[in-house]
Amino acid sequence: MLIKPAPDILPSEITPRAVFDDRRRIVLRAGLGLAAGAALWPAAIPRARAASLGSLPSPFSTDEAPTKLDAVTGYNNFYEFGTDKGDPARNAGKMALRPWTLQVEGLVGRPRTFDIDELLKLAPLEERIYRMRCVEGWSMVIPWNGFPLAALLKQVEPLGSAKYAEFLTHYDPEIMLRRPVLHWPYAEGLRLDEAMHPLTLLTLGLYGEPLLPQNGAPVRLVVPWKYGFKSAKSIVRIRVVEKQPATAWNLAAPQEYGFYSNVNPAVAHPRWSQASERRIGEFRKRPTLPFNGYAEQVASLYQGMDLRADF
Ligand code: MTE
Repeated sequence: MLIKPAPDILPSEITPRAVFDDRRRIVLRAGLGLAAGAALWPAAIPRARAASLGSLPSPFSTDEAPTKLDAVTGYNNFYEFGTDKGDPARNAGKMALRPWTLQVEGLVGRPRTFDIDELLKLAPLEERIYRMRCVEGWSMVIPWNGFPLAALLKQVEPLGSAKYAEFLTHYDPEIMLRRPVLHWPYAEGLRLDEAMHPLTLLTLGLYGEPLLPQNGAPVRLVVPWKYGFKSAKSIVRIRVVEKQPATAWNLAAPQEYGFYSNVNPAVAHPRWSQASERRIGEFRKRPTLPFNGYAEQVASLYQGMDLRADF
């Protein structure tokens, strides 16, 4: 039998949904915290065609059915490559993914620059099947592969004066939009306790394979209790700072996109309600949950805050 080496695998061959679901059931049955090792792979799946990244299952994963891979990789927001949903899949392939470094600096004891291949080995990769909710009213369920951002931040030792983390992304005017649709480079920010929260994922893959360019390769943030725009793609620099950093969408329209941007069905966007959402692949609308369903894990971060004012 011909077994292809990983780099030759076409995106269309990546773990089909049915196989993925099957494998997940098996992994879950094997118990959380166990590595998805060789013994757990159904014999029918040739190893090389199954997920190449190898990840541990996570208790933070939802049981909901993951959105189809072609929607996850074909219906995107990555404004640097165009504002239509199909533009990132068409245009982001121009981005060179190697060499790539992620610089972590600012109010830290040990500033460091990580090479992307070093980053892939920094901590055990986990499979996190997260609900994702876009401010535009659609949602997906995505099996991400990554590790908690906290594992990276701990390595650089944030100082006592550090309060926020700022995420700066790749910007190359030769291949990306020059029109100032947003302020480039796209920037995002989190309060340091949000950044260190175990749900905040430094993400290197999805569906068990390295991220595709349109999803923010080679490294992005995923913050599942916030609207999708907080999850910055193609990050090159993280700055640990004292003051709340400026963020791309907040700069573009502060009355529409607050710094916190927690998914909140009770706080409408000025131009539309946030009470419900349409899961990609479904027709019916479903109610949007506070903190996108992660309230139990994250609501305590916002105790004492007025989330209508600090939206
Ligand atoms: N990151 C960068 N660099 N540029 C962007 O335009 N869009 C954001 C976020 N991260 C964006 C970005 C928005 S609005 C959303 S909804 C999510 O990425 C979409 O991620 P996905 O396309 O992987 O689903």
